[in-house]
Amino acid sequence: QNLKPYNTFGIEVFADYFTEANSVEEIISALEFAEKNQLKLLILNGGSNLLFTQDFKGLVLKINLKGIEIVSETDEFVEVKVQSGENWHNFVQWTLAHNFGGLENLSLIPGNAGTAPMQNIGAYGVEIKDTMSELSALEISTGKIRKFTNEECQFGYRESVFKNELKNQFIILDVTFKLTKKNHELHTNYGAIQSELEKLNIQNPTIQDISKAVINIRQSKLPDPKEIGNAGSFFKNPVISKTQFEAIQKEFPNISAYPSGNELKLAAGWLIENAGWKGKRFGDAGVHEKQALVLVNYGKASGKEIFDLSQSILDDVQEKFGILLEREVNIM
Ligand code: EPU
Repeated sequence: QNLKPYNTFGIEVFADYFTEANSVEEIISALEFAEKNQLKLLILNGGSNLLFTQDFKGLVLKINLKGIEIVSETDEFVEVKVQSGENWHNFVQWTLAHNFGGLENLSLIPGNAGTAPMQNIGAYGVEIKDTMSELSALEISTGKIRKFTNEECQFGYRESVFKNELKNQFIILDVTFKLTKKNHELHTNYGAIQSELEKLNIQNPTIQDISKAVINIRQSKLPDPKEIGNAGSFFKNPVISKTQFEAIQKEFPNISAYPSGNELKLAAGWLIENAGWKGKRFGDAGVHEKQALVLVNYGKASGKEIFDLSQSILDDVQEKFGILLEREVNIM
């Protein structure tokens, strides 16, 4: 099976076996098949945060569970459960159509609902950890379904227990969010949102306005995977101490950073741009011209070409700024 349609980077690699599961029963029978035939397993959802560098010798299982339901509500809050195979942005739009607040800043993030908790997706001052109440996941080794509270997911910046201790052990089935029905808490501190709202001439934004602003900003800087293959930010923004920052700032006074607890989060996009990589293209592998943190596939790039480009960037940024970037995208 050609996996090109199943990864937003649009990389052509092949899997020995491929199946889609539309129900928990189908997931379990696929797992049984993999076990019986001693196959390596890859769980695929939106395919929006991974880079294939070689063919997959094993079974790729695509999760297609669908559905959105309200599980409880009060005057002020509602709990909404989304099945993991729902497209994230469509889900966010569904919440906004019902005037449920909390996810508007996360509009237009590629991928599916079930992978959102893996890396605690975040944008414009909001992360899913801010509103996720619980999720259920199927344990691959036992077939048992377990609930995880927000705390049990051990969320951090683009991190969760599912990328660490429990890596490759669970399949997320559904995710529940606690959203507001009124008195929505707006997150408009992020500079880009403020200027976009001004541009739209909106003084008292609704959650729908914020979503619109976010969509405009993202469309203006981030490539649409349907047009140019990519997986969003390829690297994480490095978090460094104030002392370390001041040392770098002496040499590079314009360096861009924002506070993160007691430390500072550097804009990796700034580092990459200022190392001279923005807009560079090598064959079909490139650095996006409007956002240097995003690597792109202009058509026929191989995963290895993208990976090698990322390595050259890592090495160069380390040499120029003394900072070792970390990849955010999963390398397969
Ligand atoms: N910058 C540059 N050059 C660039 C890109 C960025 O100088 O080419 C500097 C600018 O100073 C800019 C600052 O970086 O003001 C921040 O840029 P931006 O607002 O685009 O955000 P980011 O820090 O590059 C992070 C997330 C994005 C998220 C945005 C908005 C990570 C790894 N990335 O990017 O998430 O959409 O903030 O909140 O944290 C993703 O994870 O896939 C992703 C796109």
